[in-house]
Amino acid sequence: MRTRVTELLAIRFPIIQGGMQWVGRAELASAVSNAGGLGVLTALTQPTPEALADEIARCRSMTAQPFGVNLTMLPAAAPPPYEAYLDAAIAGGVKILETAGNVPEAFIAKAKAAGMKIVHKCTAVRHALAAQRRGVDAVSIDGFECAGHPGEDDVGGLVLIPAAARRLQVPLIASGGIADGRGLAAALVLGAEGINMGTRFCATQEAPIHARVKQLLVDKSERDTNLIFRTLNNSARCVKNAISDEVVAMERRPGGVAFAEIHHLVAGARGRATLESGEVENGLVWGGQVIGLIDDVPSCADLIRRIVLECRERLGAGSAYFQ
Ligand SMILES: Cc1cc2nc3c(=O)[nH]c(=O)nc-3n(C[C@H](O)[C@H](O)[C@H](O)COP(=O)(O)O)c2cc1C
Repeated sequence: MRTRVTELLAIRFPIIQGGMQWVGRAELASAVSNAGGLGVLTALTQPTPEALADEIARCRSMTAQPFGVNLTMLPAAAPPPYEAYLDAAIAGGVKILETAGNVPEAFIAKAKAAGMKIVHKCTAVRHALAAQRRGVDAVSIDGFECAGHPGEDDVGGLVLIPAAARRLQVPLIASGGIADGRGLAAALVLGAEGINMGTRFCATQEAPIHARVKQLLVDKSERDTNLIFRTLNNSARCVKNAISDEVVAMERRPGGVAFAEIHHLVAGARGRATLESGEVENGLVWGGQVIGLIDDVPSCADLIRRIVLECRERLGAGSAYFQ
């Protein structure tokens, strides 16, 4: 396939595996890149910038294809050493940076000066335009369906993708709610030139998480997600389970809830333990509405191959309506 996204990132198919905390490790990123998409390592999954440097080296030993690094910059009481993580990616020769959150202009300048291509991921057209003004090379836009943080505007991909495509000059990547060739075809028709997927890549052979978590994603339907942190103005979509149900119930209490009261339920270490142990009711499992479209756990190569074939078939079927 050839779009501005495949050209920019030097990949065969415009299919990107978005940054995923605890999941975006070398096993998954290299498998996606080897299959012709773009795999992405998640910087903050590594405990230190030095560990990220090691993970980049490990990924490079597993693929000769391009891969990226995700840097997610969220407000935090004690923020991680973001710049040192960026420096590790630059020193490791990574040429593609996926940014998310509040990225200072100086970071973009530094990454560009190092010859990196920057894909900024955001959830609103106004943020996409701001990122374009700051010089990013492409924008991923996450619709309300997505796993993780969909923002507070609640605009689904069917409106958000064309709304962004109409305004942006840089290539657009559609994200959120995409799991198959129908989704890729729809994204292309709506004006995107590639797709970014998170949840679908968690249910692959190579995703470094417990098989029971993958089976959970297969078993659940599109109705089985919860939006937590709504009352804290930091909405986040995850799979419905005992923990996310409890958080939602606490948020609905009269007077609401303070973050400190739910911290023990949602702590990152607890979510990580769940992904590793497969005790799927014990911690948060991030996942989007697209779980309703996931029926199996293929290899990344099989997944990408069938997405591309199905996309081609759907685009052909669509054009056949014109006689
Ligand atoms: C398990 C998991 C962890 C995620 N962690 C991050 C993260 O650390 N940083 C980030 O920018 N996005 C993160 N995301 C969001 C994805 O990169 C992607 O934008 C999103 O999953 C797209 O929606 P989809 O799941 O419907 O494909 C995560 C998603 C999942 C499923």
